[in-house]
Amino acid sequence: MFIPAIPVSHAISAMNEEAPTVCSEVRHGTDEYRQTVALRDELLRRPLGLKFSPEELAQEKDSFHLACRQGGTLAACLVLEPMSARRIQMRQLAVAADFQGRGIGRSLMGYSESFARQRGYREIVMHAREEAVGFYEKLGYRREGGRFTEVTIPHFVMRKTLAGGGEAAGGGGAEPL
Ligand SMILES: CC(C)(COP(=O)(O)OP(=O)(O)OC[C@H]1O[C@@H](n2cnc3c(N)ncnc32)[C@H](O)[C@@H]1OP(=O)(O)O)[C@@H](O)C(=O)NCCC(=O)NCCS
Repeated sequence: MFIPAIPVSHAISAMNEEAPTVCSEVRHGTDEYRQTVALRDELLRRPLGLKFSPEELAQEKDSFHLACRQGGTLAACLVLEPMSARRIQMRQLAVAADFQGRGIGRSLMGYSESFARQRGYREIVMHAREEAVGFYEKLGYRREGGRFTEVTIPHFVMRKTLAGGGEAAGGGGAEPL
């Protein structure tokens, strides 16, 4: 089921009310999807001297792509990759530099958790960059195991159990990654 765009918050500036933050699913292969790839490339790959390969992007067709816009401008995006009937991996959260520190990362995370819960997923896992661990901890994610290197920089496995809602997809505790 394709979930239509919904406003998730209204960022209030000191003087004026800004455009609402609207989060939605983006379909793989569309112009909107290509915009999210450009944002992820700018924030997550180019600073490390890396780039996405065509094979890597083709493999994303079975993932969910979620994005938030403000006033029509792409502000943030991430990827949710199903791992099993109950567990989904969050990947490549990127908030555009001009939009950082305004609660948009938090909004997209909240939208993504609802999105996953509605599809029966019970747990989100991720490989979090060490510099972003504090952000995820604020949102209830817990670090697990030791530091490891991915895309040349230190990461940690983090997890969060999603409570309630949606159809059952198997119970029990955390599955190993
Ligand atoms: C890390 C990132 C996703 C945060 O998004 P954001 O929209 O700037 O964050 P928000 O404004 O929603 O912040 C929510 C809370 O987390 C805190 N926070 C934000 N970034 C943080 C960080 N790197 N470490 C610790 N806390 C952080 C904020 O201070 C805020 O706290 P508060 O609610 O107590 O005020 C964003 O800065 C980003 O895209 N960075 C570059 C790419 C990246 O590192 N992605 C993560 C890959 S794992």
